[in-house]
Amino acid sequence: MGNGMIQICFVCLGNICRSPTAEAVMQSLIEEAGLEEHIEVDSAGTAAYHEGEAADARSREFAQRRGIHITSIARQFKVADFDRFDYVVTMDQSNLRNVLRLARNDADRAKVSMLRSFDEASSEGAEVPDPYYGGPGGFDEVLDICDAGCRGLLKRVRRAHGM
Ligand code: 4NP
Repeated sequence: MGNGMIQICFVCLGNICRSPTAEAVMQSLIEEAGLEEHIEVDSAGTAAYHEGEAADARSREFAQRRGIHITSIARQFKVADFDRFDYVVTMDQSNLRNVLRLARNDADRAKVSMLRSFDEASSEGAEVPDPYYGGPGGFDEVLDICDAGCRGLLKRVRRAHGM
């Protein structure tokens, strides 16, 4: 908010795997649609463990194979982010609860949703699974899930803001 652009923040736990992936996938869809002057994306983690770090090398590598560049540096989600962002999009139920705990009022709460809720093919409450402790297949799966969720989110944003 402030510069007239729609602001979206993706949120996971560490801000080194899932939310940086969602941010980069969304950025690439925004560029494909020619909407980079209208929609701005960022990401954050509910935890501070990895603050200042680049995204996980595996996330970056699997995204790179699809021509998607992950450049984010990890930071923790803070209450003031509710003032800056129009959409706060979490990866799982635990992130959702943690972000909602920081919300100050109904206006803050109304900004919060889960990524897969924008994917019509997902069941209610579906999460983006944490790939951090799993095998490499988890990172490709996260990319597929983020792609489907972000396509739905972009549609929703375009409709809501007449783009
Ligand atoms: P992310 O994955 O929430 O998708 O960034 C994780 C990264 C690190 C940790 C947990 C999840 N960790 O416990 O350090």
